[in-house]
Amino acid sequence: MAELICFNADCRARYAITDVLYNCTKCGGLLEAVYGAIDACDLKRVFRERRMSNAPLDQSGVWRYRELFPFLGDYAQVTTLREGNTPLLDAPAAAEYGGLDRLTFKHQGFNPTGSFKDNGMTCGVAQARRLGMKRVACVSTGNTSASMAAYAAAAGIEALIFLPHGNISFGKLAQALEYGARTFEVEANFDQILALVRVLAERLGIYLLNSVNPFRIEGQKTIIFEMLDQRDWRAPDWIVLPGGNLGNTSAFGKALREAHALGLIDKMPRLAVIQAEGSAPFYDFMQRGGEFRAVEKPETLATAIRIGDPVSWPKALHEIRSSCGVVDKVSEQEIADAKAIIGRCGIGCEPASAATLAGLRKLTAQGVVARDADVVAVLTGNVLKDPDYIYRYHTGQLKAPDGARIESRFGNQSVVVPNDADAIARAL
Ligand code: F0G
Repeated sequence: MAELICFNADCRARYAITDVLYNCTKCGGLLEAVYGAIDACDLKRVFRERRMSNAPLDQSGVWRYRELFPFLGDYAQVTTLREGNTPLLDAPAAAEYGGLDRLTFKHQGFNPTGSFKDNGMTCGVAQARRLGMKRVACVSTGNTSASMAAYAAAAGIEALIFLPHGNISFGKLAQALEYGARTFEVEANFDQILALVRVLAERLGIYLLNSVNPFRIEGQKTIIFEMLDQRDWRAPDWIVLPGGNLGNTSAFGKALREAHALGLIDKMPRLAVIQAEGSAPFYDFMQRGGEFRAVEKPETLATAIRIGDPVSWPKALHEIRSSCGVVDKVSEQEIADAKAIIGRCGIGCEPASAATLAGLRKLTAQGVVARDADVVAVLTGNVLKDPDYIYRYHTGQLKAPDGARIESRFGNQSVVVPNDADAIARAL
């Protein structure tokens, strides 16, 4: 039995799982999917056996774990691009840079559209189909839109995408166009466009697939389930992730609490959420307490997390508290350098993802994370999402939003040579 329940502890209003709602109609709170008793006794074996199966649902690194988010009545409504199935990668050079003995990356950039959004989108689009929706919409800093465009196209639903004009990488915009989405570049920032899209969704009966959509959060829980499964259900000490709209923080915390309650893991890992300095409202709030205050003009070259008014902050706050977590922020220079180090491990990621390693370096230096801790950092997006940033960094042309030059400390420039073996041999 699945229901939607208001996340606000003073309200907890309940709604049918098929109600088209993103917020509680009584108090305006966020909604979450909640289930009756789940029998977890044999699940670890079932999940493992499904890796041998050729059935599309079992091959998906999301739907393989479907007993842990049983909101759908009929799995015929699922559109899968075989999302999830992302590797755990050891990265000794990044560990050393981060002040750790050992560091493992869970690389969500290996997803079909190159980011963790696919884990949630397959669920959001399945719910859209179940509800008979003909059109879906989102505002995005680029990855949600790329993912929604792909899954909507595969499902035969029309995709409407709203992007902050001038603040999205071409790789991500190109994906939306290639997957056939109707794409609008709005002259406003992410937070302003989200308010606009909510109005349009309501007025035109379009299904909203931003991370306020509780079914996206259910799908993103599987990033954690798959990581735990890959570690034979040994929970790490820390899980580190970048924070933007804070949907992933909400999903990871919910997954960990549920896995712990079901006895799938015997301890709760701690969450460490890292924000970019110019877009760090959650960090500010955790430091200062009191009312949550949005950052009016968020800035960062890590455009994926350029968000000043993250909708999921109440859930994220709960998850940070439940997991004894921490929130930190890092500078543009720190993100750029950490990103280059991840590249040198042969792994690579997009700028927002590198906030994890930059944050870890700070947290180990402060003694918050111990050198010998067992740490999994989640790389949220693929290295090819933002090639423009990479080229500028390595050629010394990258500038922070305030115009300050970012030093290319780990830069690697290409060299122009004549078509002459002797000259090239000399250069070598
Ligand atoms: N990393 C990447 C690569 C992202 O695309 C995002 C969010 C985040 C981290 C932050 O995750 O919002 O769950 O805290 N991108 C959204 C988008 C906002 O529109 O693609 P969050």
